[in-house]
Amino acid sequence: MILVTGGAGFIGANFVLDWLAQCDEPVLNLDKLTYAGNVHNLDSLSQDTRHTFVQGDIADRTLLDRLLAQHRPRAVVNFAAESHVDRSIHGPEDFIQTNVVGTFRLLEAVRQHWSGLPAMEKEAFRFLHVSTDEVYGTLEPEAPAFTETHNYEPNSPYSASKAASDHLVRAWHHTYGLPVLTTNCSNNYGPYHFPEKLIPLVIVNALAGKPLPIYGDGRQIRDWLYVRDHCSAIRRVLEAGRLGETYNVGGWNESANIDIVRLICSLLDELRPRADGQSYAAQITHVTDRPGHDRRYAIDARKLERELGWKPAETFETGIRKTVQWYLEHPEWVAQVQSGAYRDWVQKQYQSA
Ligand code: NAD
Ligand code: DAU
Repeated sequence: MILVTGGAGFIGANFVLDWLAQCDEPVLNLDKLTYAGNVHNLDSLSQDTRHTFVQGDIADRTLLDRLLAQHRPRAVVNFAAESHVDRSIHGPEDFIQTNVVGTFRLLEAVRQHWSGLPAMEKEAFRFLHVSTDEVYGTLEPEAPAFTETHNYEPNSPYSASKAASDHLVRAWHHTYGLPVLTTNCSNNYGPYHFPEKLIPLVIVNALAGKPLPIYGDGRQIRDWLYVRDHCSAIRRVLEAGRLGETYNVGGWNESANIDIVRLICSLLDELRPRADGQSYAAQITHVTDRPGHDRRYAIDARKLERELGWKPAETFETGIRKTVQWYLEHPEWVAQVQSGAYRDWVQKQYQSA
């Protein structure tokens, strides 16, 4: 079996669902269930004996030791993290605790487990760390996309904590020989995306008749990848990645935030027109910019394509349409995640905007 951490979050849940749809290898899913974790993302697996869910913290060494000894996974895929840049600006401590201390504890527990394995199991073992393009910092408008050798220049508490975790993973390979792989992916979007992030926030707010908040001038650029393409890339790297290597993951889909928001508005105008006949674009509102806001990210994913033959299946046009349709078809999911903690956050973030 494999151990997946953070498998109740956005990407982790998509990964677990895709994994079990494609193979029969069981998944042990360890997730703390922070505000971002939602076990209902995994409701379709409730009767599936291949999926075991454990609520717990990657920083809990006792729990990790017990789970590793009991289940003897052949691989660990580490999604668990605090992931929202704006939250990291308001309160960085949780990011240090989970992304840095948590990754350290997980690496130590896995190292001990791996060291004691018989030779063949030891040889086959993998630790895959899921990271982000934000560790590379920001790009000038005409600069080439980030390659794997780009300097680490993180600019937010979130990206600094992810950069620190990437360095720990690297060091555990170099020093102890732990068989690690790291992926650095661009912005994901798709089903089960928590509506604090731009794309789901805009869909959900539009349908609720609320403002669509654009930070600053809205000309910041992100490089968007459909979440299931990220999942297929992780599966491929886990299967065939070279030990100790890092692989960038992206879909060559750079867009300015304002263009993304306008596109979502036009899709909603087509699929669920407003009762008053106006476009959802009328709800666009410019608000105070994010402090230290990175201007542009772009991922060069040629290494992954060249070495492992991976390519995304979705274009941005097909992926964003599927995503908008998914949110239209799952109002109950949206209603459920918009409970207590989420409402408090929205009030704190946007009250002064
Ligand atoms: P998310 O916030 O939706 O989910 C994170 C999950 O981790 C949640 O289920 C949460 O409960 C769990 N978690 C948090 N702290 C934990 C802890 N201490 N122990 C165990 N579980 C814990 O995040 P996401 O968007 O799904 O991102 C998953 C991973 O992918 C993160 O490592 C993130 O840095 C990385 N990533 C995300 C994106 C993106 O666009 N969302 C892009 C590239 C990389
Ligand atoms: O690049 C990968 C990263 O993408 C991941 O590592 C992070 O975990 C993930 O959250 C995401 O980070 P971003 O900060 O790019 O995503 P977010 O959806 O928060 O914002 C996308 C862009 O939209 C960013 O430029 C900020 C802007 N934005 C965001 C929100 C929430 C707005 O203009 N208005 C908003 O209300």
